[in-house]
Amino acid sequence: MSYYQRHIFFCLNQRINGEDCCADHNAKEGFDHCKARVKDAGLAGPGQVRVNKAGCLDRCAGGPVAVVYPEGTWYTFVDKSDIDEIVDQHLIKGEVVERLVLPPSVGR
Ligand code: FES
Repeated sequence: MSYYQRHIFFCLNQRINGEDCCADHNAKEGFDHCKARVKDAGLAGPGQVRVNKAGCLDRCAGGPVAVVYPEGTWYTFVDKSDIDEIVDQHLIKGEVVERLVLPPSVGR
């Protein structure tokens, strides 16, 4: 059994060279909201859920992006309600939020 039941990583990469990046698309707001939701629900900790920051995950064209393990499900999101759906449906119930899944063809 893994240390965390589910582990979600948010790319918060900020580029200063003018290239597009997740930080320019409210990635931090999504991360903060997810972290707060998981904590408020009492889901944070060993055997449960961990929410982590990440650097560039090399799928910038779909940004902002996040990935959930152990399923390896990649998401793109727009606002807090998208994050709520990922928390309620995937992190809690283990069901993929199909409408937010990042298409496999999306890369850098
Ligand atoms: S900047 Fe977020 S995936 Fe590259």
